[in-house]
Amino acid sequence: MKLFRAVLFCMTSAAIAHASVTHTSFGTLPSGAAVEIYTLKSPAVEIRVMTYGARVVSLATKDRDGKMGDVVLGYANIEGYLGDTKTYFGSVPGRYANRIALGKFTLDGKQYQIPINNAPNALHGGPDGFASRNWTAKEIPNGVEFTLISPDGDQGFPGKMTAHVRYTLEGSTVRIVYSATSDKPTVVNLTNHSYFNLGGEASGTILNEKLTLDADQYTPIDATSIPLGQLAPVAGTPFDFTKPESVGARIGADDVQLKNGSGYDHNLVLRGKSGELRPAAKVYDATSGRVLSVETTEPGVQFYSGNFLDGTLTGISGVKYVQHSGLCLETQHFPDSPNRPNFPSTELKPGQTYHSETTWTFTTEK
Ligand code: GLA
Repeated sequence: MKLFRAVLFCMTSAAIAHASVTHTSFGTLPSGAAVEIYTLKSPAVEIRVMTYGARVVSLATKDRDGKMGDVVLGYANIEGYLGDTKTYFGSVPGRYANRIALGKFTLDGKQYQIPINNAPNALHGGPDGFASRNWTAKEIPNGVEFTLISPDGDQGFPGKMTAHVRYTLEGSTVRIVYSATSDKPTVVNLTNHSYFNLGGEASGTILNEKLTLDADQYTPIDATSIPLGQLAPVAGTPFDFTKPESVGARIGADDVQLKNGSGYDHNLVLRGKSGELRPAAKVYDATSGRVLSVETTEPGVQFYSGNFLDGTLTGISGVKYVQHSGLCLETQHFPDSPNRPNFPSTELKPGQTYHSETTWTFTTEK
């Protein structure tokens, strides 16, 4: 029986194709702190993630001919990341990813103010959020666990928070598991802000990539990108990606919501039960044949079409990132939830553990 189990275990592990994990230095921060970069490698995928911002730096996958290519936007060195406070390339924004209206919210009768860094709102946890922190790293089976301790009052948020982000690679699937605890009631919303370009990071825009979103509703926004409050049907609007549609097909439509976001920069309400890992999005690039399938436990996904890239940033392979060079699928709780009792709650109480999981699976199609 024991032997049978051992054989079965070996067969299953071989089928999953475990990843090799190595790490090296990725430079130092102005403070002198060392930045480490971890490479997780399987036959199908090679992903590099670093301690600074718990960021994905590069992610190589196979095209339909088996040729590897880097499918996320990023920089060649730490200086690139330090010189860019706007894009959040590959990072884990926090403590509250996305926007909080005017940076204000009330919890248990007390008002809190997060510094404004996207006037008039707070974005991605304020000007010195989790994306610009040097996390500590620990190797785990098939990957790495990053840990950050955020002190009580950090960027205005109450409670000392301990946050963990685990990246693991199993075959062609990258799994990201987020967890957090706090010693006082607080709010939390973590995501990954990678910009995907399945044609390759230097291949131009994502406007021809075909997107499917498992969402029948979205949260329309005002001119400052704060949700108006209601969940609106996507049917009959440029936000209907329930069937595969190219990102660029309707991006220029005369639509007030697209104008408010300067393109797509909206939260889609995912079907199914929040807390259960279920399909969220699929992207297909006809040129390379690459397919990305996203699953998540989160109730929403911010679909951002790289509207604010403007050709001034030079990427990892020396190519300038023009508008729409990449798209983000930020699995998340809805924007401004701390001020929206009708949205799924982002409160975290002492004794509770926040848990969130997202997977990216890479395949190819003809
Ligand atoms: C998020 C926001 C966008 C933009 C990017 C970073 O996706 O929703 O408006 O700020 O981050 O540029």
